Amino acid sequence: MNILSIETSCDETAVSIVRADGDFPHATYTILGNALFSQIDIHREYGGVFPAVAKREHAKTLVPMLEKALGEAALSEKEIVLDENTHTAITELLSREPGLAEALFRYCSTHGKPEVDAIGVTVGPGLEPALWVGINFARALSLVWDIPIVPVDHMEGHILIGLFDGTRLAPTTFPALALLISGGHTELVLMQDWKSYELLGETRDDAVGEAFDKSARLLGLPYPGGPEISRIAEGTREEGMIPSFTLPRPMLTSPDYDFSFSGLKTAVLHAVKDGKDQREIAREFEDAATEVLVAKVRRALDEHNAQTLILGGGVAANTNIRRAFADLFRDEYPERALFLPEKTLTTDNAVMIALSAHARINEAVPGTTELRADGNLRLAPKTA
Ligand code: KG4
Ligand code: ZN
Repeated sequence: MNILSIETSCDETAVSIVRADGDFPHATYTILGNALFSQIDIHREYGGVFPAVAKREHAKTLVPMLEKALGEAALSEKEIVLDENTHTAITELLSREPGLAEALFRYCSTHGKPEVDAIGVTVGPGLEPALWVGINFARALSLVWDIPIVPVDHMEGHILIGLFDGTRLAPTTFPALALLISGGHTELVLMQDWKSYELLGETRDDAVGEAFDKSARLLGLPYPGGPEISRIAEGTREEGMIPSFTLPRPMLTSPDYDFSFSGLKTAVLHAVKDGKDQREIAREFEDAATEVLVAKVRRALDEHNAQTLILGGGVAANTNIRRAFADLFRDEYPERALFLPEKTLTTDNAVMIALSAHARINEAVPGTTELRADGNLRLAPKTA
C-alpha cells in the first residue's frame, strides 16, 4: 500500500509518499517521494519558533511539498471531478489557512487521484496552530481522494524511524528504551513490545534542545543553537581544552528518570555574566547535558534489563551525545543494541510519520471524521 504522510508539528513542513509491502513491523518500505521545507531561516530572524509564523508558513508550503513529493513518486493518476459539495466542504475546512484551499484547488485542476491508499498526519504533540494546518490539509485531501486518514503521534514516528534502515524496521529485542530528545521533548520511554509504551521519565522544565537553543542565545549564537554549541564544543575537545569551571549536572543522581535543564541554562546565564569564556561555557554545557542523559539511560538499561536503545529527536544529531552512547554500549553493554539514526532522519520529517501511520493503519478514519490537534499528546501515561 502507498501512504502519503504530512508533518507540520513544529518548524518543518514535510510530505512523503512511502510504499509498504507487507504488514507492520515486517514490511519492506520504499520511499517514493520525500519533500521537506525547513522554516529555520524564517524563524532565525525572530530568534525562535513562533506558532503563528509557523502556521502561516505551513499553509504556504504544504501544496508545493505535496507537488514535489507526488512528482518524485510519479504515481499513476485517476481522473476525478470535485463535486460542489466537496468543494464547499474543503473551502470551509481550510477557511483559517489563507491561500491553502486555492492552492489545493489549483493543484487538483491539473492532477487526478494518485495511487495512494491512506494519509498519515501528525496530530500531536507539537504547536497546536501548526498541527491544525496539517490536519485540515489531510482532511481536505482525504475528501478529494476519498481515502482514510491515520492520526499519528509524532513521538512514535521518532521511535520507529530510529529503527529504520531505509528499507525495513530492525528486528528488535524487547524490552527496548527510547530516548527522545528534541526542541520540545526530553522523554525516556520503555517498550515491552511494538506499539507498547511506558513513559519512565521526562523533563520537568525545559527540553534538552530548548536548553541548547536558549543557552546558545545567551552565548550570542544564532538559532537553532544546538548545532552551534556542538560545533564550538567539538572544537575545544580537538584542542584538548579542559574547562576551568564546571556547570551543574541537574538531577544526575535523583532516584527517578526525570530531567531538568532550566537550572543548567540559568547557570549558563551566570557564567556569561561572570565574563567566562564563551567556548568554555559551550563545552561545559554540552558535557553536563550529555552526562545527565547517559546516566539516566544507564540506570534504566540496568533496572529494566532493556536490550535495545533507540535515540530520536533533533538533539540525537549531536556528535558528543552520539559518541557518549556509542562508548557506553561498546564498553558496558556490548551485547545490547544501540540505534543511532542518521542525522537527516533524527530531525522532523514525514517518512517517520508514514512509518507510524503504517503501524496504525487499522486506526484509519474517514476524512469526514473530526480530528483534533493535541499539543500535549502523550504516547503513554507516566508510570514510574
Ligand atoms: O526534532 P527536532 O527537529 O524538532 C522538534 O523539536 O521536534 O529538534 C530540533 C532541536 C533544536 O532544539 C535543535 O537545537 C536541536 O534539535 N539540535 C541539536 C543539534 N541539531 C539539532 N542539538 C544539539 N546538537 C545538535 N547537533
Ligand atoms: Zn520532533
